Amino acid sequence: MFILLVVLCSFTPKTDEELFIDSLLSQMTLEEKIGQMNQLDPSYESEAKEALIREGKVGSIFNIVGAKEVNRLQRMAVEQTRLGIPLVVARDVIHGFKTIYPIPLGQGATWNPDLVEKAASLTAQEAVYSGVRWAFSPMVDVAHDPRWGRVAEGYGEDPLLTSVMGAATVRGYQQSPMTNILSPVKMAACVKHFAGYSVSEGGRDYNTTWIPETQLRDIYLPPFKAALDAGALSVMCSFNALNGLPSSANPHLNIDILRNEWQSDALLVSDWGSGSDLVPHGLCADKKEAALRCINARMEMDMQGNIYTDYLADLVREGKVQESQIDECVRSVLRLKYRLGLFENPYVPEPDGENPLCYSIESLQAAEQAAVESAILLKNDGILPLSEEYLHAKKNPTVLICGPMADQKKEQLGTWIFDGEAEHSVTPYDAFYNREKPFHILYEPGLTYSRDKDPKHIAKAVKAAKKADIILFFAGEEAILSGEARCRTDLNLPGAQTEMMAALAKTGKPVVLVVMAGRPLTIGREVEQAAAVLYAFHGGTMAGPALFDLITGKAVPSGKTPMTFPKTVGQVPFYYNRHNTGRPTYEPPVLIDDIPVGAPQFSVGYSSCWLETATEPLFPFGFGLSYTTFEYSRTTVEPIADREGFYTVSATITNTGKYDAKEVAQLYFRQKSGALVRPICELKGFQKVFIPAGESRKVSFVLTPEDRGYWHEAHNGMESRVWFAADETEFEAWIAPNSAK
Ligand code: BGC
Repeated sequence: MFILLVVLCSFTPKTDEELFIDSLLSQMTLEEKIGQMNQLDPSYESEAKEALIREGKVGSIFNIVGAKEVNRLQRMAVEQTRLGIPLVVARDVIHGFKTIYPIPLGQGATWNPDLVEKAASLTAQEAVYSGVRWAFSPMVDVAHDPRWGRVAEGYGEDPLLTSVMGAATVRGYQQSPMTNILSPVKMAACVKHFAGYSVSEGGRDYNTTWIPETQLRDIYLPPFKAALDAGALSVMCSFNALNGLPSSANPHLNIDILRNEWQSDALLVSDWGSGSDLVPHGLCADKKEAALRCINARMEMDMQGNIYTDYLADLVREGKVQESQIDECVRSVLRLKYRLGLFENPYVPEPDGENPLCYSIESLQAAEQAAVESAILLKNDGILPLSEEYLHAKKNPTVLICGPMADQKKEQLGTWIFDGEAEHSVTPYDAFYNREKPFHILYEPGLTYSRDKDPKHIAKAVKAAKKADIILFFAGEEAILSGEARCRTDLNLPGAQTEMMAALAKTGKPVVLVVMAGRPLTIGREVEQAAAVLYAFHGGTMAGPALFDLITGKAVPSGKTPMTFPKTVGQVPFYYNRHNTGRPTYEPPVLIDDIPVGAPQFSVGYSSCWLETATEPLFPFGFGLSYTTFEYSRTTVEPIADREGFYTVSATITNTGKYDAKEVAQLYFRQKSGALVRPICELKGFQKVFIPAGESRKVSFVLTPEDRGYWHEAHNGMESRVWFAADETEFEAWIAPNSAK
C-alpha cells in the first residue's frame, strides 16, 4: 500500500505554479534566496534600503504607498536585479484604506459578514490602486480582556463570530479581481497574530500567555483555520511567548499545526522584529541563535529584523541549517508572488490625478451602512429615535450637541490609520449641522478632548444644556487610547467625562449618551443617568451620518455586543462562554413542555466584592436593543433523518413593534455532562434577518456533530495526546437574542 502511494504520488503532475517556482528556485544563489526572505520598511533609511533592493536582498517592502513610488521601487527589483523577481508590497490596511470603516471590533458588532466582506472588497480596490497588494489583516485574536488595547483590532470574544468575520474579510480582500489587475487575487490577506497573543497577562501588550493545548484549539486557533480555509495567502507570527516559546520560534504552532495538521501553504511572516526579539525575550543569547531558532521553526519571512540577511548564509555554510530549509521558505514567498500575478504584471496602473476609486460613493455608502450596523443600542427609555412624531409634541425643540467626540474628525477613525485622511471624515456635529432636521441645534463641546479634565469646560456645557430640551453627549476615547501598546488599567470614560455626564444629567434634561471608543468601557453609572445609550465604537469616515440617521430614526439600531461589557475592571476577564464552578449549585434551566428555555443562569462568585451584582456583566455578549421589539418562539430541536448526530434547530421571530428592523438570531448550545467541564453556553450559529414590522420569520440552523465537538487531552506518562470529538451526551440548544436569554 505504502509503495503504491509513493508510486502514485510521484506520477502526480506538477502544477504550472510548482513548475515555475522549481525553475526559478533552481537558478537562485543562496544570497538571492535569503533576500526573498527579507521584508523591509524603506519609508526611513531609504537610501540604504533601496541599495539592498537593487542588490536583490529584499523580497518584500511595506509602508510605501502610491502607484508611482511603488512602481519606482518595483522597477529596481524587476529591472536591476539578476533574476528580476518582483517585490510584494504590504501595508497595515486594517479597517479601510482611504475610506475608513468601523474598527474591527465595531465590524464584529454588526454580526453582518456580507457587509464586512463588502467593506474589505472596497478597501482592497482603494489599496491596490495605491500599489498595496498585501494587507496585514485580518487580526483574529479572540480577546477577553478590554484592557488590552488591541481588542479594537479583532472581532471580539467569540471564536465563531471571529471566524466568520475573519473569513469574510479574507474573501473581500482576495476575491473578485479588479478589471485592470491581471491577477485572480486582488490583495493578499495576512491573518494574524499566530497565536494566542490576546491572552497577555493583565491585558499588557506583548506579554506572556499561558494557554493549555485544548483551550488553544477550542478558542484561539479556529479563527486562523477559518481564515485559511477562506483562502488567506499569509499568516503573521505573534510577539508573545506562548507557553514559554515565542511564536516566531515555535515549531509546534508553525510546523506541527500550520503545515502538517492544516496542510497550509500560506506564507508565514514574522511580526516586526519578532525574530530578533528572541534575544530580549531571553530565549537566545544573540541574534545568530535567534535566526537559527526561527528558521528551525519555519518562520519564512523576517519583517524588519535583519536576522536572516545577517546570519542565515553563515548558518548554512556552518552546516547548522540545510539549504532545503531555506528553499521551503523561499517557495512560500514565490508562491505568494505567483498567486498575486506579480511575475506577469509587477506594476500597478498609475492613475492620472486623483485615484477614482478612493472615497467613491459606493465606499462611502458601505462605510455609512457599516457604521449604522456597528452601533449598539444599550438603553432606551423611549427618547430615541428623535423622530418627527416625538419632537412634534415639543414644538421647535433645541438639541444640544456636546462632548469631546462630537466633532473629532481624526479620533472617530480609530486606531491604525495610515492612509485615511481625517478631512474626509463626517463627524456627528457635521451631520447634525448640515442635514435637514426637525429641531434646532446648539453646539458646545464642553470637554475638548477625551482626557480633558477642566471643570470650566464642563460648566460651559452645563450652561448650554440649560437652554436645550434634549442633550446629545458624544463621549468616548481618543483613537490613541486603543490599538497596539495602548493598554489601560481602568476602563472608565477618560478625563472628566463621568463628571460631565453627571452634571448634564443634573440639569434634568434627558441625555442621550453616544460612546465612541476602541473597547467596551465600564459605563454603568453613566448608563443609569442617561435616557438612552448608543455604543458606536470608532465608526470611521462616515460615523457622523450613521449616528444622525440612528438618532433621528432614519435607521434602526441592529448592532449587538461582540464582547461582554463588564461593570467594573475587577471582573475582567469576563466572557460569556466561561466555565461554571461548583458554586453556586446548578440551577436547572426553566422547562416548558420538557424543553429548556433560554440560557441556564450561572454565575462566578465574587463573595467579597462591594458591588452587589458583580456576578453579572453590565451587558452580556450578543446584547443590543432595537427601536422595535422582537418575540422569539420556543426553539425546536429535531434530529435530521438519515444524518446521525445532525439536528435542525429552529425558532420563529416576530417583529412586534412599529419599525421594520434587522435582528441577530443567535444559536447557543450547552451540554449537560461530558468528558470535561464545558462552557456555560457557546455560540454555534447566527443569522442577521430583516423582519418588517408585524411580520415573522423562521430561522433554522443545522447543528452538526462537529459543532458539538471539542478538544480532549489524555496523558500517558510524559506523552500527551489531543483529539477532537463530541461527547455522547444530552445537550440543550436554543435560539435567543443574546447570550443571557
Ligand atoms: C504589529 C503588526 C503590524 C506590524 C507592521 C507590528 O508592530 O504587531 O500587527 O502588522 O507591526 O506594521
